[in-house]
Amino acid sequence: MPSFKVMDVVAQAAALERDGKSIYHLEVGQPQSTAPAHALAAVNAAIASGDRLGYTPANGERPLREAIAQMYLDTYGVAVPAERVHVTIGSSSGFTLSFLAAFDVGDAVAIPMCSYPCYRNILQTLGVQVVPLETDDCYKLTAALLKSSVNARRKSGLPPLKGLILSSPANPTGVMLTPDEVRGLCATCDENGILFCSDEIYHGISYKDAPRAATALEFSQQALVINSFSKYYSMTGWRIGWLVAPVELSDAINRLNQNLFISAPTASQRAALAALQPAAKPELEGHVARYEQNRQVVLDALARMGITDVAPAHGAFYIYVDLGRFGVTDSAAFSAKLLDEIGVALTPGIDFEYPGSGRGERRIRLSFCGATADIEAGMQKLAGWWEQYLGHA
Ligand SMILES: Cc1ncc(COP(=O)(O)O)c(C=O)c1O
Repeated sequence: MPSFKVMDVVAQAAALERDGKSIYHLEVGQPQSTAPAHALAAVNAAIASGDRLGYTPANGERPLREAIAQMYLDTYGVAVPAERVHVTIGSSSGFTLSFLAAFDVGDAVAIPMCSYPCYRNILQTLGVQVVPLETDDCYKLTAALLKSSVNARRKSGLPPLKGLILSSPANPTGVMLTPDEVRGLCATCDENGILFCSDEIYHGISYKDAPRAATALEFSQQALVINSFSKYYSMTGWRIGWLVAPVELSDAINRLNQNLFISAPTASQRAALAALQPAAKPELEGHVARYEQNRQVVLDALARMGITDVAPAHGAFYIYVDLGRFGVTDSAAFSAKLLDEIGVALTPGIDFEYPGSGRGERRIRLSFCGATADIEAGMQKLAGWWEQYLGHA
């Protein structure tokens, strides 16, 4: 399996920090905030009460699954039976569970050309054939593009697509599908027997100019939705997430969960339950307000640097930039140079683009989920370096 490049950059940055170098972190999608205070209090209370926090049912504790179901009703107006909710070890284990339950070796599964790298890496490791699909000018995979791939495969006698996986808001672009676009993808998938795996991990993190984040569950009973407490709930290291399975896959996913993981960490399940309570909301919305401010800092700095080839980031906490116009042809070397010369850590596009497309070599991702002052300092450093770079380019 190829490495997850952003984690390589994180390791390099940490090594430099250990040597005493100041690093400006614009690389990793890890909120700098802690889990919500209510979540921390719930775990402390459980520990103080002497609760052994032992194994739970593989699909998670009932109160947590019910609270997740309630969240779908409150946020999206969708009734989701708690029986279809499976608690997972972050969305990452949700991918493995879903792909193992739904796909066989040799199946063809589509992902957008530009997407979260672990989809491709996990699918390929499981022997699934990954089919990268072209996106539109805004990095969106639309129903029309999916249909044209379905038809082209039919015409040329290729095996039909068995699945599609994408995220909205997306990583690395922050691009969001409108509710109608999600509806269109759901309909096309359902009509063609394609399992739509909708990664909704960045739901809750979207900005004033964004469309409403619709869940695929609003439009399809067949869709499989994967989500996590890592991003909006600011709980990356707690390794806790969930998925909502279609009825036909729910039992298989439960059996896989029992055998592969036994259960998700119990302390994290308790924390997650508290994080879902209305009392935690103001703290979480405060993080989103900070991300919105940070997004502006990055966009303003890029504009001052003359960099305008930027994906429309309506959600998540990333800005994805194409530097091809400025002669950047090796984003890995470019990122390594930045880290080495000025301590700015960012992620090369080769992590996200389909290998061989040549696009990742021109593109970089900036993450803005840190403290506003750190983002400002990092962008200032980058802007100073950029002036010199342009002088020599
Ligand atoms: C789109 C997307 N999906 C899934 C994940 C994995 O998250 P976790 O396993 O922490 O839930 C990430 C992490 O950055 C992501 O960006």
